[in-house]
Amino acid sequence: MCGIVGYIGNNNAIPVILKALEKLTYRGYDSAGIAIIEKGKLVVEKKVGKIRELIRALWGKSYQSHIGIGHTRWATHGAPSVENAHPQTDEGKNFAIVHNGIIENYQELKEELIKKGHKFQSQTDTEVIVHLIAEYYKGNLLEAVLKAIKRLKGAFAFAVISTFEPDKIVAVKKGSPLIVGLGKGENFLASDIPAILPYTRNVIPLDDGEIAVLTKDSVDIFNFEGLPVSKEIFVVPWDILSAEKGGFKHFMLKEIFEQPKAISDTIGGFLSQDLNLPFDIKNINRIITIACGSSYHAGLVGKYWIEKNAKIPNEVIYASEFRYADVPIDENTLVLAISQSGETADTRFAALSAKEKGATVVGIVNVVGSSLDREADFTLYTHAGPEISVAATKTYSAQLTLLYLISILLAHKKNLISKEDFYNRIDEFKKIASSVEKTLQLNEKISDIASKYKHSSSILFMGRWLNYPTALEGALKLKEISYIHAEGYPAGEMKHGPIALIDENMPVVIIAPKDRVYDKILSNLEEVLSRKGRVISVGFEGDKVLKQKSEKFLSIPYTDEEWTPLITVVPLKLFAYHIADQLGLDVDQPRNLAKTVTVE
Ligand code: F6R
Repeated sequence: MCGIVGYIGNNNAIPVILKALEKLTYRGYDSAGIAIIEKGKLVVEKKVGKIRELIRALWGKSYQSHIGIGHTRWATHGAPSVENAHPQTDEGKNFAIVHNGIIENYQELKEELIKKGHKFQSQTDTEVIVHLIAEYYKGNLLEAVLKAIKRLKGAFAFAVISTFEPDKIVAVKKGSPLIVGLGKGENFLASDIPAILPYTRNVIPLDDGEIAVLTKDSVDIFNFEGLPVSKEIFVVPWDILSAEKGGFKHFMLKEIFEQPKAISDTIGGFLSQDLNLPFDIKNINRIITIACGSSYHAGLVGKYWIEKNAKIPNEVIYASEFRYADVPIDENTLVLAISQSGETADTRFAALSAKEKGATVVGIVNVVGSSLDREADFTLYTHAGPEISVAATKTYSAQLTLLYLISILLAHKKNLISKEDFYNRIDEFKKIASSVEKTLQLNEKISDIASKYKHSSSILFMGRWLNYPTALEGALKLKEISYIHAEGYPAGEMKHGPIALIDENMPVVIIAPKDRVYDKILSNLEEVLSRKGRVISVGFEGDKVLKQKSEKFLSIPYTDEEWTPLITVVPLKLFAYHIADQLGLDVDQPRNLAKTVTVE
């Protein structure tokens, strides 16, 4: 999704902005641009494609500027092109803007501005903001911005600079994320923390309805009425090195190998947190989980755990569906909003609407200080560290870990298990991290297997019970990074339709640890074999029956049936990774996708 950066200070703005933009590229983008003020004039450079195109365009041009804004764009309104790339400017070239989000009423504003004589150069919704600011500018940039935002509908974050006031950046947040980074004699702006980590760890995350005015020596925050707001400085705990590749070919592979640590750190973080719940469990008669993508799949596994251990009905709903459905919610409903980024618009807005209806909203997030973290009634954190690759891997493992812990915490609070039992189970559960470590030894074998299936046009994934969501996750991972069509199914549903797809060309991944549904899924496997499907199975080591029936067998260490989703998903992530890598695809930044989806 689009990325915003801004810099004002004693150093040359261009290298700072380019470096910061590079740190945001993991979010996905199709064009990039930068605007600076040099010798009182606005200089804008924009390119379609990768940041390196922008760097090449700036090569040899010895611009010196101490203020600038930059952007990576992921097209929503208007195709990827130089005209539509940001920064957008007014025709007088006195104002430049970078923007994330969507201006819903841009069409009517555009018509109004055209009637007033403004000339538009792009198809973007963004351009109306810069024209509005130019229209309202009467010698005070902050006042012009305050007036302009009153006219805008939608969720947005933007930063604006002007040749009339070249000593400041004005930034606005309503819906999309924006943070200010604090330096000495310099200040930064970014839509995501990794962009400014090379420069500072002291940040102020802006809340919705706030405006920041940055000069090189000061940062002032106002509300949309123009009144000052006081904010706390937040110190980012992440180590910059953990956002580098550390010898791995891709961030995705590095992050797959960081799963054991993500699991252990999440257990450690959970145990060091205050486990007194800020609500009375006796009043909760229902749990609703809202999430998107991989976080949704984690929520599906969590449902089985919560219903089994805490005996509370738990519905799992896509956040984008929840928002417009009439889901009965009241103060006896507990809502789990799962989002690694904490910025996914669908999840945030669904959580806010549940909160309005009286539910208690628990955020399950990886990014401390993110919007969902601040908007939820309270947050339980996954401790996976920064995830750079677009495809979620270690954050999924961390979410599963936390959801299991929540399920037994709720059970304990309901007196279904004793305190001693609660801590004993956690001690046992800690061993999962070393089982994941062991499973990672399959890496090379899976790379070989991937080479045999990489030209498939479609692959099915089947699982049952706790591993039905694993099948969904395996299919999602494969399709998003390899562009091979994949479907995840509960294996028992196969005979109700998908079985028609099976022939000698169809690889079918079957997840079959020896659990309560093992015999059932073996019958499903037979159904695949009798239609000549090619079975790749994931099962416990020593499972001769499964091995003998499969074209390829991936053996995972024996694990308590309840915890298998943390292990079975590991080979599936490696499978997707190696297929995409062997096909020569951009594994960390797959086409059309963004790491943080801040539009609805
Ligand atoms: C899949 C993936 C996405 C995200 C989804 C939700 O690999 O990364 O499906 O899981 O966009 O993102 P968060 O968890 O940040 O809300």
